[in-house]
Amino acid sequence: MSRRILVTSALPNANGSIHLGHLLEHIQTDVWVRFQRLRGNPTIYVCADDTHGTATMLKAEEEGITPEELIERVGLEHAGDFRGFLIEHDNYHSTHSDENKYYCELIYKRLKDRGLIFTREVEQLYDPERNIFLADRFVTGTCPKCSSEEQYGDNCQECGATYDATDLQDPRSVISGAIPILRISEHYFFDLPQYTNMLTTWLRSGAVQREVANKLDEWLKAGLRAWDISRDAPYFGFLIPGTTDKYFYVWVDAPIGYMASFKHYVETRNELTFDEFWDAENSTEVHHFIGKDIINFHALLWPAMLDGAGFRKPTKIHTHGFITVDGKKMSKSRGTFINASTYLEHLEPEYLRYYFAAKSNGTIDDIDINMTDFVQRVNSDLVGKVVNIASRCAGFLTKQFDGQLADRLHDEALWNSGTAIKDTIAACYESGDTGKAVREIMALADRTNQYIARQEPWTMMKDPDQRDEVQAVCSQGINIFRLLVIYLKPILPQMAEKAETFLNVAPLSWADLETPLENHTVNSFEPLFARMDSKALERVVEASRDGDEEDDGGNAAGENGVENTAGESAGETTASIEIDEFMKVELKVAKIVAAEAVKGADKLLKLTLDVGDHQRHVFSGIKAAYDPASLVGRLTVVVANLAPRKMRFGVSDGMVLAAGPGGSDIFLISPDEGAEPGMIVR
Ligand code: MSP
Ligand code: ZN
Repeated sequence: MSRRILVTSALPNANGSIHLGHLLEHIQTDVWVRFQRLRGNPTIYVCADDTHGTATMLKAEEEGITPEELIERVGLEHAGDFRGFLIEHDNYHSTHSDENKYYCELIYKRLKDRGLIFTREVEQLYDPERNIFLADRFVTGTCPKCSSEEQYGDNCQECGATYDATDLQDPRSVISGAIPILRISEHYFFDLPQYTNMLTTWLRSGAVQREVANKLDEWLKAGLRAWDISRDAPYFGFLIPGTTDKYFYVWVDAPIGYMASFKHYVETRNELTFDEFWDAENSTEVHHFIGKDIINFHALLWPAMLDGAGFRKPTKIHTHGFITVDGKKMSKSRGTFINASTYLEHLEPEYLRYYFAAKSNGTIDDIDINMTDFVQRVNSDLVGKVVNIASRCAGFLTKQFDGQLADRLHDEALWNSGTAIKDTIAACYESGDTGKAVREIMALADRTNQYIARQEPWTMMKDPDQRDEVQAVCSQGINIFRLLVIYLKPILPQMAEKAETFLNVAPLSWADLETPLENHTVNSFEPLFARMDSKALERVVEASRDGDEEDDGGNAAGENGVENTAGESAGETTASIEIDEFMKVELKVAKIVAAEAVKGADKLLKLTLDVGDHQRHVFSGIKAAYDPASLVGRLTVVVANLAPRKMRFGVSDGMVLAAGPGGSDIFLISPDEGAEPGMIVR
């Protein structure tokens, strides 16, 4: 029986551009959605822009336009960016919509009728020049704990202390620079503590990842507090019914935006209804994909609001970590705060889709983009492994056999090894461990390339008696390529489409894993995937560079005013090393005095190196790139003080340095002529 699923990504703020962080989330979501569809589960994917709040209001003012004009323009930009990354939202809506207003008021009314709303006076900092209450992020001052200057009103970036904005010394309004005054106003509260038991049970029902449940348990133990759901005018948002100057806090109407976008979607079709997905009791599923900074809103407030208003709770909340680039937070000054549109001017969307999928493991760990690794990973996996299989086999088939595939499998065991992994791969997609799925898929590609290398169809081709054999081997290669395409289709939809044209088949689905293509004619082979150019990536970084030092503050919009905040911030986990650490590495010039292939190893050469005062053996995975005889007499560089490593074929005493993605694309590092074995390299 197929599942019926509604999926969302967190609604991007309408006061900024779509960047790598949003893309991670939407790519993870889109891959999951496409996987469900590939398996035959009807899945609807909706999103919207999160338009309300002080930040939008101020930004519009700064640009001299109305908030409505601003969110209209930004909404179109965002939707375009996502399309550029092949994100298949069924509807991309706005929280500033009739549907959202309707559900916001409905939920509020139901909560109120059940006695879950009350008012209380709150004392808050107020900007007397601009006549506006100041959210924590709109006040700066000196940290009451460590006396660091220029700290926000919620916590100190220097010492990590959390405090109330009213505790700041020498506070200033970020908006006008004025000294804020204290002012009292009446706020509306939602009685969240009523839901402590419900949430405790719900969080242990598999609705969140285990680490997330543990984190939230700490808060539940510490005791939940009533949640302030109102903001005073001036505010860009929805008025609270029955008031003239109180607005719903943006985080009330933001998650309701999921419902609103879905409502807008169902309005235009008759095959499904809103209630089928949102009634308290039903068999459909609702999945939210979010970042770790907004766990509390989604896993505490949202389910409590839904429950209180008689709606269903989410089936699952999939939480991811933060993006870092080369070990550091995204930063404008380093050029690593990369916007979607900048990326798309220079690079293909599928490179990033693949890299994010390969790096995701279904946990809330941060995900690091390493620029060098990014290029190598894409080129060696997709071009060097997957596409390589098709291009090697297609040539023979089209030229020699009019594209006709054999009527049998040449290596049934290899085929079976390719279909046997399907449940593992499916489980990985389901849990978000796409990194593991990709490893399984690439291992199959490796086995297949090894198979082709062993069969050597290019040698067999010279013997007319072996024609059938060549056809069978190449057909086998194409059949495994087809499996790889099915497995990768959620990640690489565009490549899959080109592959379907080449294979001359209808859109592939998971069910197609069952049967190989036999007695079938394929079309001529067109390049499926261009190599990623590291120069183009450098241009992206260059174009993203901005003098203003400004890190990715996640939700710096000043609107996350909940007492407890989820997760730690991205954190500066630097990947650089100190010079004295580097000095520990002993690099020496070595002369290759002998080189031979290793029996039983596909990739290894055994090298005998002269390092000046002695000779030693090193195993090196460069067989595909070099004929051993051609290496004898050549100089290279060896890591001389690497601890000897025992391998299956003997001990490797050091490591020679080579560049390149792998396979036959490996380039041994050589010093200029004149260098002598044993010289230190620095
Ligand atoms: N508008 C709210 C979400 C409301 S959902 C009902 C919001 N917007 S946001 O634009 O700041 O972030 C949108 C999503 O992007 C969040 O899930 C957030 O975690 C994610 N990311 C923003 N920056 C990020 C990184 N640097 N890395 C990974 N994801 C991060 O929050
Ligand atoms: Zn401090």
